[in-house]
Amino acid sequence: MSRLTLHLLGSPVLRQRSADVAVVDDDVRRLIDDMFETMAVAKGVGLAANQVGVATRVAVIDAEGQRFAMVNPQIVWSQGRHTAEEGCLSIPDVFGDVTRPAEVTLEALDREGQPFRLDASGLVARAIQHEIDHLDGILFLDHLGALRRAMLLKRFRKENAGKGYLKEVRDAEPEEARQG
Ligand code: NI
Repeated sequence: MSRLTLHLLGSPVLRQRSADVAVVDDDVRRLIDDMFETMAVAKGVGLAANQVGVATRVAVIDAEGQRFAMVNPQIVWSQGRHTAEEGCLSIPDVFGDVTRPAEVTLEALDREGQPFRLDASGLVARAIQHEIDHLDGILFLDHLGALRRAMLLKRFRKENAGKGYLKEVRDAEPEEARQG
């Protein structure tokens, strides 16, 4: 396994709709394993393939004791509304309150290419939705009000001016927040 390079806000791949996976083969499994490692080092609760520069519909989740890969994921049912603070590994040190359905049912393929269905709530439901958003080119900032989004974007751009949009993951400080 190897750590992959994170793409930060500004990378075009974060704004495109990722393509369906036709076959879950060894290349996809290698990508999944590398994404799990990268997410763990970066202390994330979720990671989408386009966040490591690969525009295919693959994401991994590690939240509340549930750790799984999802290929071609789809929300087939949702209920309720819940607001909580979100962050994103592609937008370091930026946080905002996002309202999403509180409960979802996910359908996807697993690492072996087998279909599965998962009922999720809490942080797992939130992470699933956040990652599927990524695969559609949507960032959590897009769910915020225009004023709040503009303020956070301005701060991010100021702090990241001249740094480019690629970031090597490093072993995180223990106190760092877990981000998606
Ligand atoms: Ni994210």
